[in-house]
Amino acid sequence: MIPAKQTRCGFVIAACLLAAATRAAPPSGEQLYDIACLSCHSLGDAIDHRVGPPLGGLLNRKAAAVKDYRYSEALSESGWDWTLPTLLAWLTDPDAAIPNNAMNYVNPLTAEETQRLGQWLLLQP
Ligand code: HEC
Repeated sequence: MIPAKQTRCGFVIAACLLAAATRAAPPSGEQLYDIACLSCHSLGDAIDHRVGPPLGGLLNRKAAAVKDYRYSEALSESGWDWTLPTLLAWLTDPDAAIPNNAMNYVNPLTAEETQRLGQWLLLQP
C-alpha cells in the first residue's frame, strides 16, 4: 500500500506539471474572448443584460444590426460590415475606427492575440 504522504506528493507534482503546460500554451481565441470581451458581450443573438450587444453570427453581419439593442448613432450610421479586417480595426482602436461609438474599451491584447481572437469570434454561431 502507498503511504498517504506519498500519494499527496504525487498529486501535487501532477498539478504542477499541468499548470506548467497550461502556461506554456498561448491563450486560445476563446480564452482571449473570456478575458477581454465576455464581461460586456454574450454570443448567440439574444439580448441579455450586458452592456454590449450579443456577438454570435458576426461574420458578414451589418454593424448595429441586433434588433432592440440601443446602439450609438455613430455605429448605427457607420455602414460597416463585420469581417476580419473591420473587426481588427475596431478592436485595435474603436475610437479611431468609428469616432463617438459607445464601446468604452481599450484593447489590452497584442496585435497577434487580437487576430487570434477575431478569427475565433467570426466562427461563432
Ligand atoms: C466595457 C464593455 C465592453 C467590452 C469589454 C467590449 N465591448 Fe464590444 N461593445 C460594447 C458596447 C457598449 C458596444 C456598442 C457600441 C455602440 O453602440 O457604439 C459594443 C459593440 C461591439 C461590436 C459591434 C457589434 C454590432 O452589432 O455591430 C463588436 C463587433 C464588439 N463590440 C466586439 C468586442 C470584442 C471582440 C471585445 C473583446 C475584445 C469587446 N467588444 C469588448 C462594449 C464592450
